[in-house]
Amino acid sequence: MKARLPEFDFSQANPRWIPAAPAFAHQLNGASLLLPYLEPYLVKVMRAARPRVAEVAPELLEDLDVFNQQEANHYRVHSAYNRVMLGQYPSLAPFEAEIRADFEGFLRDRPLAWNLAYCEGFESSGVIASEFFLHAIDDLLETADPAVSALWRWHLAEEFEHRNVAHDVLKALFPGWRHRLRGFRFCSQHLFQFTARVRAHMSDIDRAEFFKDTEDAGADAKFRRRAARFHLPRIARVYMPWYSPHGRRMGEPTRRALAFFETHGLTKSRV
Ligand SMILES: [Fe+2]
Ligand SMILES: [Fe+2]
Repeated sequence: MKARLPEFDFSQANPRWIPAAPAFAHQLNGASLLLPYLEPYLVKVMRAARPRVAEVAPELLEDLDVFNQQEANHYRVHSAYNRVMLGQYPSLAPFEAEIRADFEGFLRDRPLAWNLAYCEGFESSGVIASEFFLHAIDDLLETADPAVSALWRWHLAEEFEHRNVAHDVLKALFPGWRHRLRGFRFCSQHLFQFTARVRAHMSDIDRAEFFKDTEDAGADAKFRRRAARFHLPRIARVYMPWYSPHGRRMGEPTRRALAFFETHGLTKSRV
């Protein structure tokens, strides 16, 4: 595991960045909007857990530190993209304020055990999102904006790479299936509801301003069925008491993406 920090140029980035699946692009835009608040939260929770990890599972410390570095890089690059997105969709600002308040509240009001379960839940979803993006939708990404597509390819490849860290830390400090599942369910609902609202908001703006005559509800429904077929069995696996991300093998597209971002500074072209 290592932290890579490629340079991205979002000056020409288009927030309607997956023409073949515009609603999915906006769902990921919703995720991008929350990441500069969620990922610093992950880092703070991990830092709070670190002294106890040093006592009970010191073998995890090295990975924990790389995890924090990767997450810190991710949210900084998403912030740069979000500035472009907010420039075109300024009415997203209240969503940003809302999600910032949520994570401030979690840190202030919830115990470490709860926050670590939330983090583990997020990371479990990240593995699935990574496999979907890097393995299952190449056809949709063929015509995607190269810079935004590269941002997610880099981010989700590293999410897969550090898939075990939050799971192992939670298990070392606060083991238990029910506790882990409560974190996963809360996190999934919290983030899905937020990204769905952002997606609907941005799609409404598109309909009003950009695509008056080109809406394709049939293609959107088809994409949703395809995404559900991919996600549901994987989510069911997370619900199992014996679930562990250690069992997920890194696929070739993820390996290729990690190798690419290790050697390429400026990422303007497709991976
Ligand atoms: Fe991340
Ligand atoms: Fe992560």
